[in-house]
Amino acid sequence: GTVSLNNKYAVQFIEQNEVAAVQDFIAATHRKIHEKTGAGAEYLGWLEWASNFDQNELARIEETAQKLRAKSDVLIVIGIGGSYLGAKAVQDLLQPSFGLNEMDVIYAGQNLSGRYLEELLAYIEGKEVTLNVISKSGTTTEPAIAFRVLRAWMQEKYGEQAADRIIATTDKTAGALRKSVEKSGYTSFEIPSDIGGRYSVLTAVGLLPLAVAGVDIRKLVEGAAQAEKELASPNVFENDAYLYAAYRQILNARGHSIEVMASFEPAMAGLNEWWKQLFGESEGKQGKGIFPASVIYSTDLHSLGQYLQNGRRTLFETMISFTADEHESKIPYDEEDGDGLNYLADKTMHEVNQQAMNATALAHVEGGVPVLTLEVERMDAFHTGYLLYFFMKACAMSAYLSGVNPFDQPGVELYKQNMFELLGKPGYEKKNN
Ligand code: PA5
Repeated sequence: GTVSLNNKYAVQFIEQNEVAAVQDFIAATHRKIHEKTGAGAEYLGWLEWASNFDQNELARIEETAQKLRAKSDVLIVIGIGGSYLGAKAVQDLLQPSFGLNEMDVIYAGQNLSGRYLEELLAYIEGKEVTLNVISKSGTTTEPAIAFRVLRAWMQEKYGEQAADRIIATTDKTAGALRKSVEKSGYTSFEIPSDIGGRYSVLTAVGLLPLAVAGVDIRKLVEGAAQAEKELASPNVFENDAYLYAAYRQILNARGHSIEVMASFEPAMAGLNEWWKQLFGESEGKQGKGIFPASVIYSTDLHSLGQYLQNGRRTLFETMISFTADEHESKIPYDEEDGDGLNYLADKTMHEVNQQAMNATALAHVEGGVPVLTLEVERMDAFHTGYLLYFFMKACAMSAYLSGVNPFDQPGVELYKQNMFELLGKPGYEKKNN
């Protein structure tokens, strides 16, 4: 497949017949997903979203992005959780590490830091600004506060024209944000009611900011549609998303209850965060779930590397390997060889990085850490779209295998209740005061 799971560093931990033993369970769960009969089935809109993408909607996203680009130096995306992590992940992965690609796309409303917001306001001073406020419920406190502050700034600067610079992405009918769309006439996009936040990156939630940032969103959707096709088999040995889910649950049952997503590319940091939300929020309930953690190597081999090698043996690791060597510059030959690096002369960084990965996997296996490897050819929009779908499908399977609903998040409510009580929101005054 376009992304394939390599188990060569896990064979000594899991035998093939253990995977074969869960095939019936996988096939039954596959039917549950595709026939929409499992818990939370009303949130399976993402399953065949990419292959059925509404072409008019795609064109409208692109047109809106063009308009925003034409009139802004900065697009501020306001959202939290599933309403921003996907766009941020793909943006980080596909854009240059230094300087800006084509447009400055930044984020707000993903924290409650006064310092962050003040620095943001200082940063946009004198710049042409547009906003994309994203909230499915339309009532989440963090983005609502950021939007209130930034909307006031926009009204101060642009007066009546401010409304033309604000795009809202929210539910079709429900919530405070939809109401302000109706009142203020903002251009808006709908978040489908059958797609939850952490499965929404391929809707306008992720695509509009990404199109503004200059990402080829058609290729992204194409990659996801390809994944849909390739990951449609109920057979665990023909479907690597299911194989990944099966390995995870077999390892978890054996006490490997922490999964460390490891990448050797710093641009993967954002995708790691998106992946953590996807799996953490989907699986962490009813006292169950694999705890998702992440590292960037070889950077973190010099920090968490020690723990991975010798700490508590409750871990397993999933390494993402980008197989194509896309960067030609080679390590130079040096006449003097004072640093003793001439043995590397004429190798590319990719070759050295790949050997760092093999060396790390071997070391961790020896240290008792099972290592799965996901092989992806390159870091482009197509493969990224594929990878996003791969993880979503694997996550649905994995959560169902462990007996939980992959699509709800009952546990994110309690802190909100407490916060509202402590802050004295009308109707919440009682408990903690
Ligand atoms: O995955 C989820 O459902 C959450 O992370 C939400 O995306 C997050 O809480 C933001 O919610 P909303 O889009 O309603 O503001």
